[in-house]
Amino acid sequence: MESPKDLTSEFFNNTAQTYDKIINLTTFGKDKYWKKEIIKKISECNSILDLGCGTGILTFQIAKKFPDAKIIGVDTSESYLNIARKKVKLDHKISFLLQDAEKLNLASKFDCITSSYIPKYCTPDILVKVCLSHLNERGKIILHDFTYPQNKIVRTFWNFYFVILRIAGKLIPNWKKVFEDLPKMIRSTTWLDDYKDIMKTNNFEVKVQFLTLSSSAILTGTKKV
Ligand SMILES: C[S@@+](CC[C@H](N)C(=O)[O-])C[C@H]1O[C@@H](n2cnc3c(N)ncnc32)[C@H](O)[C@@H]1O
Repeated sequence: MESPKDLTSEFFNNTAQTYDKIINLTTFGKDKYWKKEIIKKISECNSILDLGCGTGILTFQIAKKFPDAKIIGVDTSESYLNIARKKVKLDHKISFLLQDAEKLNLASKFDCITSSYIPKYCTPDILVKVCLSHLNERGKIILHDFTYPQNKIVRTFWNFYFVILRIAGKLIPNWKKVFEDLPKMIRSTTWLDDYKDIMKTNNFEVKVQFLTLSSSAILTGTKKV
């Protein structure tokens, strides 16, 4: 199997138009709940950076909770960003920029950095280092992604579900590759422990919340003074 990073261009080249519907359908609406849980973890703040913002699902929810905050979403896919940009309204203080989260180069620092579904594609020490250089004092990093459930019975259902998605993928050619390779990637990723360890080494206080039978998790790191 190709590396998670190599797969991003294949996964995200032709899927932007249908992404919002597919993520909602394939997670049985849980994506909405997971994002609400991410938002709950953002303390009062003036600036937020959303890495791998995609079509802006999380970014706009952040803007709703913090209408006066400066918000930047970055992504490596122009097609995803174009959809996000179309959703921007006049009263939004959001900018969407084409940047690689691992090579991030922004002039400003942020009170909070969020990211949903990209931790598993990135190299943890690189991403944490980049976040650190864009984070204000006492800033927070909130990472969310899929996890492979621990419970054996849940795993059986989880694996069966991906078999069904794989069959569905034959009918939706743009998503075929994603439905084929995503389960393998989730089974093998160690993103949660890797980021947790690196954050601890970099003087962050870390907390983990598992969601929906441990099929995803949120890792929150708050920079200690
Ligand atoms: C599954 S989508 C998630 C989008 C959004 N965060 C959400 O929760 O709906 C993953 C997004 O991450 C982007 N991405 C992957 N690797 C990236 C990187 N290194 N830097 C920036 N964006 C990245 C992809 O282009 C894609 O738009």
